[in-house]
Amino acid sequence: MALQAAAFLPTAFSISKEGKKISATPKDSSLFGVSLGNFTSSSFKINQKRLSNGAVRAQAVATTPSLTTATVGGKKTLRKGCVVVTGASSGLGLAAAKALAETGKWHVIMACRDFLKTERGAKSAGMAKENYTIMHLDLASLDSVRQFVDNLRRSGRPLDVLVCNAAVYLPTAKEPTFTADGFELSVGTNHLGHFLLSRLLLEDLKQSDYPSKRLIIVGSITGNTNTLAGNVPPKANLGDLRGLAGGLNGLNSSAMIDGAEFDGAKAYKDSKVCNMLTMQEFHRRYHEDTGITFASLYPGCIALTGLFREHIPLFRLLFPPFQKYITKGFVSEDDAGKRLAQVVSDPSLTKSGVYWSWNKDSASFENQLSQEASDADKARKVWEVSEKLVGLA
Ligand SMILES: NC(=O)c1ccc[n+]([C@@H]2O[C@H](COP(=O)([O-])OP(=O)(O)OC[C@H]3O[C@@H](n4cnc5c(N)ncnc54)[C@H](OP(=O)(O)O)[C@@H]3O)[C@@H](O)[C@H]2O)c1
Repeated sequence: MALQAAAFLPTAFSISKEGKKISATPKDSSLFGVSLGNFTSSSFKINQKRLSNGAVRAQAVATTPSLTTATVGGKKTLRKGCVVVTGASSGLGLAAAKALAETGKWHVIMACRDFLKTERGAKSAGMAKENYTIMHLDLASLDSVRQFVDNLRRSGRPLDVLVCNAAVYLPTAKEPTFTADGFELSVGTNHLGHFLLSRLLLEDLKQSDYPSKRLIIVGSITGNTNTLAGNVPPKANLGDLRGLAGGLNGLNSSAMIDGAEFDGAKAYKDSKVCNMLTMQEFHRRYHEDTGITFASLYPGCIALTGLFREHIPLFRLLFPPFQKYITKGFVSEDDAGKRLAQVVSDPSLTKSGVYWSWNKDSASFENQLSQEASDADKARKVWEVSEKLVGLA
């Protein structure tokens, strides 16, 4: 018999989810992505069991609603969450899109530059057609970013979660290459393209009626010099931002953020520092007023993704077994995708301003960022310079 949950909720209760016991109190703002206030008798059942002493034990059984309730104009409606994932044509983005689509609770907008590759990826991942839409986005063009935002708005879909995941990594490049707007490609794509996208879509996130709205920017251990991996040269270092302030165009300014000689591996690491700083600046500026959760993560070393496609063949051969057997930091695309999906939808990961990582038992924890990647003053400066470069100031 389904009963109104509120009447039977003890001050705290625990339920099993994916083999893990989760404890919650009525104070917790949400459970499985849905605030407690939204639980109805059909989505939350109390199983009553008569004990031998005659007492009745009420056991909470979460029958997670396949569609999430959201309040629109004071009325409760049933709908899926809508999540935009950039770079969902392969690797982490595709695996996360798959993990989210499989729940049946999410519609995934796969924001990609290669339609056919993405469609093939979605098919081979077994994603059901009704659970995803592919929309064109080239982060290496600010026009394309603006066009994507227009298209998304015209699609009439709400935006509940934005995942800035796409990236390029050019470790062997001898010379810099550039975006359509003339920025060095790694920082231009990974940071500036996402910066404009997330700034524009903040308005859409604010309007979402979804119980837990989130903006997630994928970070990396390689940008964190407080780790072993982050100390492998060349190390990330944004310096005094003179190259960024000069537009990273390689003509009248350096193509590197710190103004130094071009180094493709460092440009990627610097872009990841910008990603992690941007997430924290968003948190400082907007979390309190909007309730949006801003988060970053390091999903582990997914050594088999396309990210390493530009690396030398010997590296590509040795890197996966090295990560698997020596550092033990290796994580499969599927597992990494589940981790990112967790940051999108897990109610225990709603804390804002956090850089998530996972331990050897695959349990999430709040990780420490390096000094530079958590420098509030630098975050503000990167924000201010970036908004000039992308035409927002
Ligand atoms: N692999 C790791 O070990 C690791 C570790 C830590 C963090 N990460 C982070 O994880 C994220 C995903 O990387 P991955 O390892 O999954 O690599 P991946 O398989 O190469 O995925 C990168 C994605 O970014 C897309 N992309 C690149 N340039 C783009 C552009 N201009 N416009 C739109 N999309 C673009 C790619 O699209 P195309 O298919 O069109 O190229 C692809 O879908 C990145 O943020 C990376 O920094 C990865």
